[in-house]
Amino acid sequence: MKIVYVLAVLLVITGCKDAKKDEYTIVDNPANIDVVASNEHPGKKFMETLCYTCHDATTLEEARLGPPMVAIKRRYLMEGGTRDEFINEILAWTGKPSLQKAKMRGAVDRFGVMPYLAFPKDNIKEIAEYIYDYEIDEPDWFEEHYQKGRGNRQGKGMGKGKNGGMGKGKQMRKGMGQNDAPAAYSDIGLKYASSTKAQLGKNLMKAIQEKGTVGAIEFCNIEAMKLTDSMSVMHNAIIKRVSDKARNPKNMANVKELEQIAAFKELVKAGFDIDPIVEETNGEVNFYYPITTNTMCLQCHGTPNKQVTSETLSALTSLYPSDKALGYTINEVRGIWSIVFNK
Ligand code: HEC
Ligand code: HEC
Repeated sequence: MKIVYVLAVLLVITGCKDAKKDEYTIVDNPANIDVVASNEHPGKKFMETLCYTCHDATTLEEARLGPPMVAIKRRYLMEGGTRDEFINEILAWTGKPSLQKAKMRGAVDRFGVMPYLAFPKDNIKEIAEYIYDYEIDEPDWFEEHYQKGRGNRQGKGMGKGKNGGMGKGKQMRKGMGQNDAPAAYSDIGLKYASSTKAQLGKNLMKAIQEKGTVGAIEFCNIEAMKLTDSMSVMHNAIIKRVSDKARNPKNMANVKELEQIAAFKELVKAGFDIDPIVEETNGEVNFYYPITTNTMCLQCHGTPNKQVTSETLSALTSLYPSDKALGYTINEVRGIWSIVFNK
């Protein structure tokens, strides 16, 4: 692991001539996503923004929309080709996914063939280079956190974290009563949160691809709450997405939720891996888990006239005259999942 990390750093310093640019912009994408400056390989951010809605390894099993990227990498490496051939295969696939071309038949059976999404070729190339050159395995805290999942969670927790640089330690804070709560309650809550997130994510991504950012606002405005409600019905739970800086006043956090948000903000800022907070009252379980921003969110929640275009801004202001959900950067707590279910 350490050797790979050192190698990765060396590659960033020596191998990646673009790494020193200040800003990357997807020119052809209607979403026009700015990728924030960093000395990371630009392919990493593009992959997280464009592919991880469906290929993120940290999405819980039942909420997955596609195979984890590491599984794709392994399958494509099995072909035994060169680096160039690997990159060309990924380009060929994303340029026109089809049943005939698919190598991952098991994944096709489970998820259906990947939809064609009009991603700019240059970005796909950078993503493919990144996948080939870097270790993109799931963070090692993940295995521990979700697979074993039960009992003692104060484990090593020194994983790199999926945001690279996050996850310097393990969260020490426990919700009241969490010590007595069976780990199963936090797993149930995570399952509800991540399946709702997956539904929202998939539909939002599709809306952005098809209608652009401004068109997708309409999706959020009309569909986001309906979709959250229907997931509530499906899971027989109350699933809410609330914020301290709400766009829709109906999503404003209550006093209890504001406390949780404030605490999660501290933890995220300090770089901890976050465990959900589980509180038990008579007969019911209250579950809280942070919702954090990535680059994709900033086109609607970032800084006006920077990531949020004036067109997007005027669409937002006309629908949400008291919008407070602007001015975010990446890896910030945008709100929380607040979920209540029966014991
Ligand atoms: C909307 C969901 C979605 C998004 C976004 C998405 N994929 Fe996929 N992808 C899938 C699904 C589902 C499969 C598995 C079925 C298949 O192989 O067609 C898949 C499979 C793949 C495969 C293996 C194909 C094969 O069977 O040989 C590659 C390579 C791939 N994706 C690359 C990417 C890259 C690169 C991105 C980002 C630029 C991306 N995908 C974004 C849904 C998605
Ligand atoms: C296309 C624009 C768009 C994008 C992209 C977008 N949002 Fe939103 N977001 C909205 C709109 C519009 C609402 C208000 C929805 C409503 O009326 O219920 C909203 C509401 C929310 C809420 C509920 C609290 C509130 O402020 O009303 C959260 C939490 C949230 N967004 C998080 C995110 C995160 C995290 C991302 C990125 C993964 C993201 N959003 C991406 C437009 C967007």
